[in-house]
Amino acid sequence: MAYFEWGNDLVIDQGPIDEDHKYLVALVNELHTATSQGLGSQVVGEILKRLVSHTREHIQREEHIMALAKFPQLSGHQVGHIDFMNQLTQLQQKYQEGNLTVASQLSALLRDWLSIHIRRSDRELLVHMKQKNKRR
Ligand SMILES: [Fe+2]
Ligand SMILES: [Fe+2]
Repeated sequence: MAYFEWGNDLVIDQGPIDEDHKYLVALVNELHTATSQGLGSQVVGEILKRLVSHTREHIQREEHIMALAKFPQLSGHQVGHIDFMNQLTQLQQKYQEGNLTVASQLSALLRDWLSIHIRRSDRELLVHMKQKNKRR
């Protein structure tokens, strides 16, 4: 069974944002499977690489969609994105310096990102879109 399950409470746009988030869930599960087999330190570098480039693209895509939707919380939301990118690049740095606990730190960071950022902050976009549709 997957470590982190995709669920309805993660659905935002039934489109590009969800597709990006599903890829993230797949990476979280990949990292977890490797870690539970004792292979975390072997795969973490490669997962971080994919994660950094995917997240960079995702953030751009998501902020663009939010701007088009005139999402009022966009500027605060961007702060959360910058912070997450910083944490990812710091972990990448630690990995390059030979830190051995990067896999577990990454796994904790991603768990928070999925359950706090996506489930709560990204979801505010869904709430905003629904309200907008109602006003039409
Ligand atoms: Fe997102
Ligand atoms: Fe976001």
